[in-house]
Amino acid sequence: MRHFAFIIHSVDLGWVSIAFKEPNLLKKKNSLLKKAFEWLPSFECAEVAGVKSPKNLTLKGNLIYCGLFPEQIMSLKKEVVLDRIISGGKIAEELGADILGLGAYAAQVGRKGVDIAKAINIPVTTGTHYTISIAIESTLSAAKKAGIDIKKSNLVIIGATGGIGKACAEILAGKVDTLTLVARSGIRLNGVKENLKTRFKTKIIIEDDIKTAIKKSDIAIMSTTTPTALIDINELKPGALVCDISRPRNVSQNGKKLRKDVLVIDGGIVKPPGQPDFNFFIGLPKGLAYACIAETMILAFEEKYESYSLGGKISADKVSEITRLGKKHGFELAEIRSFDLEVPDEVFENMRKLNVKRK
Ligand SMILES: NC(=O)c1ccc[n+]([C@@H]2O[C@H](COP(=O)([O-])OP(=O)(O)OC[C@H]3O[C@@H](n4cnc5c(N)ncnc54)[C@H](OP(=O)(O)O)[C@@H]3O)[C@@H](O)[C@H]2O)c1
Repeated sequence: MRHFAFIIHSVDLGWVSIAFKEPNLLKKKNSLLKKAFEWLPSFECAEVAGVKSPKNLTLKGNLIYCGLFPEQIMSLKKEVVLDRIISGGKIAEELGADILGLGAYAAQVGRKGVDIAKAINIPVTTGTHYTISIAIESTLSAAKKAGIDIKKSNLVIIGATGGIGKACAEILAGKVDTLTLVARSGIRLNGVKENLKTRFKTKIIIEDDIKTAIKKSDIAIMSTTTPTALIDINELKPGALVCDISRPRNVSQNGKKLRKDVLVIDGGIVKPPGQPDFNFFIGLPKGLAYACIAETMILAFEEKYESYSLGGKISADKVSEITRLGKKHGFELAEIRSFDLEVPDEVFENMRKLNVKRK
């Protein structure tokens, strides 16, 4: 039977309290709890049920839990983190999985999965190619619904030198008037800009200050490895759209009242075929999945047992291929969501009015 496994990790304490059905966790001392999760060995936390393709193919799936939080994955000794992910991979192997997917920050470990693939006997994928595909599809679809003229817009990519950001910049560069690239390393940003300049006539701006960039943005794609909020929704100009792919999120919503003149969408969300049930809280309502999990499932459906997205290498051909395979096996873009909720029509109407005025 086609069998996948996927490693998830702790996102934040609120998420952990829901995942383990322990609301009282939030009353405990945060530092102590995080220390306990730092020591927790990886374990199988759930069996995935109900995934069924239009051709009646079914999948077996296991979720493997790694207790580490994003900031621990980024700051603890590399060997400690690597060991925790590899031990999760070995559990997947023992369970009989044909392929292993790495979720969110687990995908950053061991040279973006390369060292994990070397240490276990099943292929490993980070889900990056399908995440790029879905991020672009959801951004273009939301922009259309919000009445944004993509051609005339200033598209800001935050994390533009990273795997996801750079690929989004390359795929979308020819579709917009102005492209603003944002990251901390100016040298790497210049490299991306020079490469794009040889292929597109688009005006390309480099910016190292996120707040300056976001104030002038019509559409932004955020995909960074900083596990905290980098902008607040109140910093967006009216009519602007942001697709926040980063997990944990990079956009916060601390305003006094909910803004209905801007839209921040949750990036990379997919509806797998059938009645998928992860039997564990993955941060989404039942039936939905992150694109990185979906990529692992698509490869399992296709019995394409290879380390598809690994080491941060991205190919446009693979983005097209995994998009095609996803459609073949019945995977669809989920309804547009914002801060975990469906977007009311009223928000799109407001956005359309604002953006029509600007045309
Ligand atoms: N939704 C999904 O299904 C899904 C799937 C996979 C990944 N993700 C998420 O996508 C995000 C990015 O993944 P990736 O593989 O593309 O990572 P990556 O290749 O390491 O790229 C990260 C990018 O972010 C930039 N960056 C980091 N911190 C920054 C900051 N404070 N300000 C500005 N730029 C910053 C980095 O450049 P500098 O270091 O030069 O700043 C780099 O350009 C992660 O949060 C990951 O969890 C989501």
